[in-house]
Amino acid sequence: MTAHPGARRGVRIVGVGSYLPEHRLTNADLVRMMETSDAWIVQRTGIRERRVADLEGGETASTLATLALREALASAHLTPNDLDLIVCATMTAEMECPSCACLIANAIGASRAGAFDLNAACSGFVFGLNVAHELLRGGAYGTIGLIGVDTLSKFMRYNTAGRGTSIIFGDAAGAAVLKATDDASLGILAQTMHADGAGWKDIYVPHRNSDFPPGVTPDPTQCGFVQMSGASVFKFAVGTFPDLIQETLDKARLRPDDVDMYVCHQSNARILLAARERFGIPEEKLYINIDRVGNTVAASVPLCFDDLIKSGRVKPGMKVMFVAFGGGLTWGSSLWQI
Ligand code: COA
Repeated sequence: MTAHPGARRGVRIVGVGSYLPEHRLTNADLVRMMETSDAWIVQRTGIRERRVADLEGGETASTLATLALREALASAHLTPNDLDLIVCATMTAEMECPSCACLIANAIGASRAGAFDLNAACSGFVFGLNVAHELLRGGAYGTIGLIGVDTLSKFMRYNTAGRGTSIIFGDAAGAAVLKATDDASLGILAQTMHADGAGWKDIYVPHRNSDFPPGVTPDPTQCGFVQMSGASVFKFAVGTFPDLIQETLDKARLRPDDVDMYVCHQSNARILLAARERFGIPEEKLYINIDRVGNTVAASVPLCFDDLIKSGRVKPGMKVMFVAFGGGLTWGSSLWQI
């Protein structure tokens, strides 16, 4: 690729990969661990099973992410040393320091690449797409490895006290390799990134008593576990999701049916079905895999995209809208000419 100063460049997604931990946790397994039922979970969320990392056996966010990125590099016919930058979207890095991205760079032997994490909870991968795209289009970088990974199981209690969250979340990693190209028609047509910090208390992980929000009595036994106001998050998501799709379409001056595929964060099947209905999106254009993997946080969007590329449902020439929302509260979108 030749970089011309001032010339507009495009961005191509040249490879994808994913990794799901081996261990399946079905609704029947959960029924043995807590007071719940398959019918309750399926009716409220659409989830039938999720995967859980073997944390005791050494599976972590960076080990899952490493496998996903290796696959993405292989599918792009690139090597780790072709990467200029590794960006890892996660809220479950194994340590505060180093970043998950640095551990991944070391594991794959990407000695040339800069590496950093980005935390926007479930919106992380979509925010990462927007950031990586601009770094590539601006000309400062040529090739970026972007990963969305989370192991929320480490913040879960698989008992009745934790049933409001542990039925929802699953562990996974998804990755994409993005490359600058002289074809300026490829890349982002419209993007959005939003946050409402006032909504932080709807979903958070406290580590000490001072982390609890005003009005909530600090409870040390809750430290280290996800606290979620399910109904508030549901209301936020149901309202935000269609608005986000409309805002992105308006920015790109497109209509809902101009988009070939909607790749959406899998938080709850009911939220996805409501958006489908509102825009009259046909079933085959809004992919749903939450029944098999649950809500995999930052991995959710790249996992769907990987499935869609591998099955041939997304092909070059298509317009694809990535949409996500989550803790923070955060929400964002990225509409691509693939
Ligand atoms: N099994 C059976 N009963 C359960 C349960 C479970 N796993 N979890 C909660 N309950 C109970 C509650 O204790 C409550 O009982 P009560 O009425 O006796 O107090 C009752 O079911 C209703 O709880 P509620 O939290 O109001 O249920 P809900 O209809 O809002 O469904 C969620 C809960 C979490 C499924 C739903 O709110 C949701 O999907 N929210 C969005 C979450 C999300 O997407 N988070 C990720 C954001 S990226």
